[in-house]
Amino acid sequence: MPSLPKCQLLGFLVGVLLAGGAIAADTASDDAGQTFRAYDARPCREGSIIECGEVRVPLDWHHPSTGDGSVVFARYPATNPDTRKGTVFLHSGVWSFFSSVRAPQIDLNRQAHALHQRLNGEYDLVMWTPRGRGTPGISVPGTLSCFEDSIDMSTFYWDMGIRELDNPEAPLSWDEDTLEWTHKQTADEALMFHRVQERTVISCLENAEYQEQADMLKYMGTAATVRDMVAMADAFDGPDAPIHFWGIQPGSLIGSYLQKMFPERAGRLVMDDPVDPITYNEVQGYLRWQSDIATANTSVAILEESCTSDKLADCAYPSGPPRPDMAFVAMSINLLRRDLMGWINQPVVELQNSRNRQFYDSIQKEPSVTQNWKTFEEYAKVIAGHSFWGARPVMDPDALGLRDMPIICGDALYEHDPDNKTLRADAEAVLKGSLHSVPLLMSSAFPSWRFLCHLWPIRAVERVSFSAPQDQTPVQETLVLLRKPDPWNYPRVSDADARRLWPDAHVFADLEFGQYMFDHNNCNLDLIASFLANGTVPEDGSPCANGDERRHQASHALHRKAHKSPRVL
Ligand SMILES: *[C@@H]1O[C@H](CO)[C@@H](O)[C@H](O)[C@H]1NC(C)=O
Ligand SMILES: *[C@@H]1O[C@H](CO)[C@@H](O)[C@H](O)[C@H]1NC(C)=O
Ligand SMILES: *[C@@H]1O[C@H](CO)[C@@H](O)[C@H](O)[C@H]1NC(C)=O
Repeated sequence: MPSLPKCQLLGFLVGVLLAGGAIAADTASDDAGQTFRAYDARPCREGSIIECGEVRVPLDWHHPSTGDGSVVFARYPATNPDTRKGTVFLHSGVWSFFSSVRAPQIDLNRQAHALHQRLNGEYDLVMWTPRGRGTPGISVPGTLSCFEDSIDMSTFYWDMGIRELDNPEAPLSWDEDTLEWTHKQTADEALMFHRVQERTVISCLENAEYQEQADMLKYMGTAATVRDMVAMADAFDGPDAPIHFWGIQPGSLIGSYLQKMFPERAGRLVMDDPVDPITYNEVQGYLRWQSDIATANTSVAILEESCTSDKLADCAYPSGPPRPDMAFVAMSINLLRRDLMGWINQPVVELQNSRNRQFYDSIQKEPSVTQNWKTFEEYAKVIAGHSFWGARPVMDPDALGLRDMPIICGDALYEHDPDNKTLRADAEAVLKGSLHSVPLLMSSAFPSWRFLCHLWPIRAVERVSFSAPQDQTPVQETLVLLRKPDPWNYPRVSDADARRLWPDAHVFADLEFGQYMFDHNNCNLDLIASFLANGTVPEDGSPCANGDERRHQASHALHRKAHKSPRVL
């Protein structure tokens, strides 16, 4: 996995802090109600091409007197200011895989150079940290934290666990320090943990120490983030400039909101392995979770099935190394858990998961060609989150807070209704019913924060419905790219849904993209860059069928990194 050079992050933070006072606050209104924003940008560190900066934005776009927030961005500039054609905004969307205080230039750095070259250096490439992410005080609003540190957090969980136990005589079944469960959870324990999470939300919002942060929660959300992006486009390119955008997975939501809120501004949009915006904010979180884990489970099951075939080449994920590779498989499952599951287990629980053992054996059937892996014990350690990631990223502000819950649940169109008994019973039924439904992912499943929106009381000041009829015909050009199923793209829409959601778009399905994020192979990158440059798309209906030239390269890079430091930040 990409690891971050520490010095680069520090340099960035110091740069931003020093520049904080130097940003001009004067602004001027435009017709659309948006406001030109003064911004500041400078090389992220001495000699670097990428510039870091920040833009001041109103906390509440409809009530600017509420006060100002601050958005941190990174920009890979066009080669020549005189021939510069505009900006392409990029959004990776893989929020839950990385720390929320990850700086945008780290992700920009991954693909910016290759994309810059393919666009003939004619565009600035910009990534930014959306509201609700980022270091509080630098990004405003920044990440919500609920606890001082990991000790504060484990103490709270221990006390709440004891309080919510059905049988006060029974011991709690997680490790007091690490919060890792020591055995496979039962349905009663899932319901107990659900009550603990409910108390965590309430306590976090009531905690006076974080009151200032809590007051800002309603200003988070994707609609406000899109207004921030439009403000950046105004400032960088002028108020009427078309906005070009490439969003991956949840990042595509920014594109959907832009199409809906500013159809006149949307330029060329790449919806890369997109998610369905209607489901995103209309369907109760726990129901989305139920279907997301089933989809992820299916892609793992497909792998297992292909591994039992006679052809070895079948036994690999489309985006993974071309041969069975246990490091890659284990890491994929670990990432799925980090994204989808709201608790963690000790490796000993994995060792007792016979379904995972069976899966392991099916891939391990020809050890001579199975790369990088030795025993089931080691495999179990990695899927449990040990050795590769470190047991638990305790100092990560995400781990001390509610992760993306404030953003995603703030976007929800349904209201918070703690007194609705039917809803409560329905949520509990899903928790119980799904507990042991996806043993290939985890022996017992429980939703991560962003799927527990029925416990989250705050909604964003601006929310957008995608099922309401559109009065304006969007004029923008859209490219929709869909991948073959694998565990890196379980939030994808189906081919049929994509054609319904983006009826005028160019849709290409069954692509292999490379790993994730902006790590695309050359063929896919050419496809995306030509579209962004001038709207050109291939005549061939299934491009990049053999576009896997970077798979070898990528898997080597992955292994080098897999043996380095486990912490991302
Ligand atoms: C997960 O996959 C397994 C196949 O091994 C299957 O038996 C199970 O029904 C799947 N679960 C869901 C929820 O689809
Ligand atoms: C309670 O929740 C259920 C399930 O989401 C919903 O169908 C119902 O309309 C809600 N009842 C009220 C009174 O809002
Ligand atoms: C469109 O842009 C791509 C990438 O810069 C370039 O290779 C291609 O020739 C361009 N096509 C047209 C028709 O201008």
